[in-house]
Amino acid sequence: MGKRIVVGISGASGVIIGIRTAQALAEGGCEVHVILTDAARRVIDEEMGKGFAFPPEITVHRENDAASALNSTSFLIDAMVLVPCSVKSLAALASGYANNLLIRCADGALRTGKRLVVVPRETPLSLSALENMVSLRRDGAIIMPPCAAYYHQPKTVDDMTDFFVGKILDLLAVENKLYRRWRDE
Ligand SMILES: Cc1cc2nc3c(=O)[nH]c(=O)nc-3n(C[C@H](O)[C@H](O)[C@H](O)COP(=O)(O)O)c2cc1C
Repeated sequence: MGKRIVVGISGASGVIIGIRTAQALAEGGCEVHVILTDAARRVIDEEMGKGFAFPPEITVHRENDAASALNSTSFLIDAMVLVPCSVKSLAALASGYANNLLIRCADGALRTGKRLVVVPRETPLSLSALENMVSLRRDGAIIMPPCAAYYHQPKTVDDMTDFFVGKILDLLAVENKLYRRWRDE
């Protein structure tokens, strides 16, 4: 089995980025655990349609599952990505307010020095959101806003999404060919 990676999906727009990340990691041989907040479920209904379900090889955890293994850092993970990250979850994580499984697990990644990638999704940004990002960066998290690029000549929304997902996999050190790299023929 490859790396054990947690994909936290909060209730921000762009849940497809989290979903595609989980799928690409699973396709890359990783053991993938997804944590969904209640708000994320709501946004998935809006953005993916009500019938959406993860494939069986991806383990899905709910935010209020107090008995989940992911509550404890004794359940060893290699890395975590929080994508998309709402400003609420950003604030909770920056202040250590671990009131659900998503923040609890991300806080554990910070406490144990595991790779933690945070993909905040809001625009424009308040001063508090900016300060929360600075605080998390100081604490060792990588902050990766989903900023579009054009040099890979995206034609579709899927191309744009794959660019973000490829960047996330790069940060998790999982090999991928999801986007065309600069000068890489
Ligand atoms: C369709 C939809 C889109 C949303 N998009 C965002 C967003 O892009 N960023 C954000 O911070 N909150 C967004 N929200 C609001 C969050 O879902 C809300 O603040 C929620 O409490 C976040 O909780 P969570 O971080 O525990 O998932 C959106 C809500 C809905 C219903």
